[in-house]
Amino acid sequence: MNLLITGCCGHIGSYLAENVNKIKNIKKTFIVDNLDSNRFDSIFNSKKKNNLKFLIRDLTNKKSLDDLKDIDFVIHLASMTNAEQSFGKKNVMYENNISCFKTIIRFCKRTKAKLIHISSTSVYGKQAKIVDETCEQKYLKPQSPYADIKLIEEKMLKKENKFLRYNSFRFGTISGVSKGIRFHTAVNKFCFNASINADINVYKTALHQYRPYLSLKDAFKVFKFCIEKNFFHNDIFNVLSGNYTVNQIITKIRKYKKNINIKLVKSQIMNQLSYHVSQKKINRYGLILNSNIERDIRDTMKLLRNI
Ligand SMILES: NC(=O)c1ccc[n+]([C@@H]2O[C@H](COP(=O)([O-])OP(=O)(O)OC[C@H]3O[C@@H](n4cnc5c(N)ncnc54)[C@H](O)[C@@H]3O)[C@@H](O)[C@H]2O)c1
Repeated sequence: MNLLITGCCGHIGSYLAENVNKIKNIKKTFIVDNLDSNRFDSIFNSKKKNNLKFLIRDLTNKKSLDDLKDIDFVIHLASMTNAEQSFGKKNVMYENNISCFKTIIRFCKRTKAKLIHISSTSVYGKQAKIVDETCEQKYLKPQSPYADIKLIEEKMLKKENKFLRYNSFRFGTISGVSKGIRFHTAVNKFCFNASINADINVYKTALHQYRPYLSLKDAFKVFKFCIEKNFFHNDIFNVLSGNYTVNQIITKIRKYKKNINIKLVKSQIMNQLSYHVSQKKINRYGLILNSNIERDIRDTMKLLRNI
């Protein structure tokens, strides 16, 4: 069977492409990116056994995948992803991400490929101790244009329910090292700043608020599970390794760097809510995610140890 990975040069895509040989029955993998991020290094030294075929494509062009056929699964990761910067770039991000998504939906309908769509736990804003996928629409309160777009994508898929096989996975914030590792998300940004003795900026309200985090290893487990078990339920699932406060994350970083400067700042992505995201729904299907975020932090700090 053949797989298409979009956004292959990114944080998650590069990890997936690197490990795709661990997914049974995948013979060939087409990997696509527009290289706007200039991360050519994500595709350096790819393993022969992964049988990858790299294509430079801009998915905002709806015909960009028209020459591809015989694809069984699509893992769609191509997106503009910086949530905090999304306030100033709402229209550009909307245009890019929704256009890419339309191209993917069109492609999956044409080829009957099964789709793995990645949403985000940042769609939650409900004031509750635990949030799960049954959370009513009116309590989904995305805190950024980035998260707004994720909700729109989820709704677009629901409308295509009859014509597609898919899952939408609401991923927690990623931790872990890959060739395309990014540093604008919480864990990695903290690790980076700690390593260069820069202040770690923490939103004033966030130090003791719980948020969901997801190890790259667990993200990969989800992709492998769906493909090997043919698990496509046309549904939404939370995906996380654990819920932690920023303070707990920083305590984990302190094991590798004793002196850390925390600076409390204001941000547009701030609210008073502290919530745990439940992963019971996906657990019920036998998928248990509990990779150790601390190991990801150790690996990230190791990358940066001599700077
Ligand atoms: N990293 C996280 O913490 C996190 C958490 C929740 C959800 N997600 C979602 O998972 C997916 C992948 O995230 P990531 O962290 O790997 O992102 P990333 O920013 O590291 O990578 C995205 C890749 O998509 C490519 N891309 C963007 N627009 C494109 C276009 N028009 N055509 C072709 N390629 C394009 C970029 O060049 C980049 O290489 C995204 O949908 C993201 O929103 C990520």
